[in-house]
Amino acid sequence: MTVNKLEEMQQSKAKIQQGGGEKKIASQHEKGKLTARERLNLLFDENTFVELDAFVKHRCVNFGMENVEAPGEGVVIGYGQVDSRLVYAYAQDFTVVGGSLGEMHAKKICKVQDLALKMGAPIVGLNDSGGARIQEGVDALSGYGNIFYRNTISSGVIPQITAIMGPCAGGAVYSPALTDFVFMVDKTSQMFITGPQVIKTVTGEEVSAEALGGAMTHNRTSGVAHFKSANDEACIQEIRRLLSFLPSNNQEMAPVFESSDDLNRIIPELDTMVPENPNKPYDMKDIIKAIADEGDFLEVAPYYATNMITGYIRINGQTVGIIANQPKVLAGCLDINASDKAGRFIRTCDCFNVPVLNLVDVPGFLPGTSQEYGGIIRHGAKMLYAYSEATVPKITLIVRKAYGGAYIGMCNKELGADMVLAWPSAEIAVMGPEGAANIIFRKEISESDNPQETRAELIDNYKREFATPYKAAERGYVDDVIEPSATRPRLIDALNMLASKRETRPPKKHGNLPV
Ligand code: HXC
Repeated sequence: MTVNKLEEMQQSKAKIQQGGGEKKIASQHEKGKLTARERLNLLFDENTFVELDAFVKHRCVNFGMENVEAPGEGVVIGYGQVDSRLVYAYAQDFTVVGGSLGEMHAKKICKVQDLALKMGAPIVGLNDSGGARIQEGVDALSGYGNIFYRNTISSGVIPQITAIMGPCAGGAVYSPALTDFVFMVDKTSQMFITGPQVIKTVTGEEVSAEALGGAMTHNRTSGVAHFKSANDEACIQEIRRLLSFLPSNNQEMAPVFESSDDLNRIIPELDTMVPENPNKPYDMKDIIKAIADEGDFLEVAPYYATNMITGYIRINGQTVGIIANQPKVLAGCLDINASDKAGRFIRTCDCFNVPVLNLVDVPGFLPGTSQEYGGIIRHGAKMLYAYSEATVPKITLIVRKAYGGAYIGMCNKELGADMVLAWPSAEIAVMGPEGAANIIFRKEISESDNPQETRAELIDNYKREFATPYKAAERGYVDDVIEPSATRPRLIDALNMLASKRETRPPKKHGNLPV
């Protein structure tokens, strides 16, 4: 090879790597954003990122596009190592035609989607784009369709993670929405189907882009996003951390980490964690952190439906998915959003062979017309479905209240819990003592000379009889009533015992049907 050819190649690569050029890069930095390549360099272990398709060009000739150079086609794609494991990624380059997506830009994204699926490796998408490249018309829309299709095909097979690190508007929001986890960077990212201007024209509503589709809006209000990061660097570090809890694909287990935490660690504070007064709240996250290896808890969707806690811990080095009621919020009741949040998380755990641990303190479903009209029946069903469908090891620990349908909804024996443990503070019954007494002792109370006193007495009787774990344990619905302080060794033991669990379901349409 001649020196000239080598130099030519090096120069054209260097030019492509400059993206939209110095001015555009400076403007990106001024907005508090990193460039696509800077982001990818942070995502991957040092010097492991390999870029593909850097030479790809668009072939649009509409509206003067034939004269527009778009280095790398506005998206950088490739693969590399994250904590020494293979991961694929694409990062849209806002410095090149606003990161807008045309035919070839989409083809590049589809290429890494296909490779990730074939190789059984996670894919990370870093989105920063003005949306469909307007000049490319229907070719751009076709590109989105191809991406959505691949998101769906890959769902449940490989982990798909998206970060929104700039604008993400119109139908472009649906690729992130089809992935398992959505990160948003605070103040610099926005997602919406129709922007503020269109909304003003159509409905007359005035709303800022940040209020409409900023990171906090989607983390707290809509539940579209699962994580909010302070800046690009933090976002990428959090993605790396999340990947550490997940396997590379649905045929593998999550990586097991060496833990320095004591396997037989007794936690005396758990014996006094649950207040004497059953109506007094406490923080379920204290229990989660106490039992986790090194107290490490990665909460998923920490701002949304906070009456339900979801996230990952490790126990004896192994990833465990936590689904827990939060008595501090709405007394831990199940409502529409909590059911959606939990249902989705359970299914993600099940897809990726992550055992689930359900921590139960639930007084019931949230009463009210807004819940009934909103379809709590329909949404609550998703939780029942997700638990029943899940074949991963399922452990349920009843900490305090486990009443009625919500007791079933949090994965009791019948929904397939492989191990149901209860603390002595557990109250497992059809409903709470006050409500139950009003119904079953209505006559005695109304006919009593002292209804108040009679009512209190009957509630006490009911509590002694039913508001304990022992009725359920008598029937074998609870496998054991345990000392709270011994919870961690008991869970380690249960997880070890369940490690070889094999459970199948009748094949459905996509199962192994005879051809
Ligand atoms: C072509 C685009 C573009 C687009 C931005 N650019 N978006 N080019 N198609 N969709 C170009 C701009 O012309 C500009 O080019 C450069 O990118 C940077 O954009 P600016 O506007 O200068 O940046 P900024 O001021 O930061 O504003 C960013 C923005 C704005 C808010 C994203 O560009 C914008 O509103 N873009 C259009 C958004 C939109 O409506 N997209 C279509 C959504 S519908 P120059 O040459 O000046 O540097 C959609 C349908 C998908 O996406 C359907 C899927 C099913």
